Amino acid sequence: MQKIDPHHLPGHIAIIMDGNGRWAKQHAMGRIRGHQKGAQAVRTAVTACRELGIACLTLFAFSSENWGRPGDEVNALMALLADYLDKEAPKLQKREIRLSTIGDIDRLYAPVRKKLLDVKKLTQSNDKMILNLALSYGSRDEILAAVKKMLADSREGKLNPDAVDQDVFGRYLYTRDLPDPDLLIRTSGEYRISNFLLWQMAYTELYFTDVLWPDFKKDDLLKAIAAYQGRERRFGLTSDQISGRK
Ligand code: FPP
Repeated sequence: MQKIDPHHLPGHIAIIMDGNGRWAKQHAMGRIRGHQKGAQAVRTAVTACRELGIACLTLFAFSSENWGRPGDEVNALMALLADYLDKEAPKLQKREIRLSTIGDIDRLYAPVRKKLLDVKKLTQSNDKMILNLALSYGSRDEILAAVKKMLADSREGKLNPDAVDQDVFGRYLYTRDLPDPDLLIRTSGEYRISNFLLWQMAYTELYFTDVLWPDFKKDDLLKAIAAYQGRERRFGLTSDQISGRK
């Protein structure tokens, strides 16, 4: 097992779970089987993060662009999500994990939306970890919606345009109650951000692995955290400033 420093954990890990389709192809299976294996890897990742003491885990489960996939794949992903919520709700509650979402969840199929709202309500007081699912999420849409709402609030006298700064802007995003991610993991050997948390990832450490999402295990998570722990985060300052020497 990869060794990590338990006192220097990323508070918020975001994951682009990529490679379900390629995993299925490698195993001579249909894409939907790949997503089913991917849902199993979600369970593994949530358990591992909870055990490690990660405060927030954001998973890119369905992008706004994913609506363009073949109908049977979209249906299967919605069904998988519903099944995940049914089976995991008691476990989330037992492990004191709060479910949250970012994205346009009104577009989701009605039964899935209802289950999401129910599980969010059930787990709303939990404070050991946040499991944040990005669903029907696209970062450019999120930013545009924030700008439009700010303009509307300004017209209605609820927002002073001169007072707009990064904090004010951040409060118009889906992520208003979440810290920015410290570590982004993308699986499957793709080196892209794919319209995910563009504003929020200004200073996030990026980690890419060739492992396909259905094969992603606790040790792969530990490797990503170890890589993060080996980085120096300077936030635009110098190395000496960060280490306190000036
Ligand atoms: C990307 O792989 C994965 C997705 C678009 C869906 C992610 C969904 C899951 C992991 C399962 C359901 C989620 C939950 C939270 C229960 P891809 O299909 O783009 O893979 P490919 O690039 O190899 O074709």
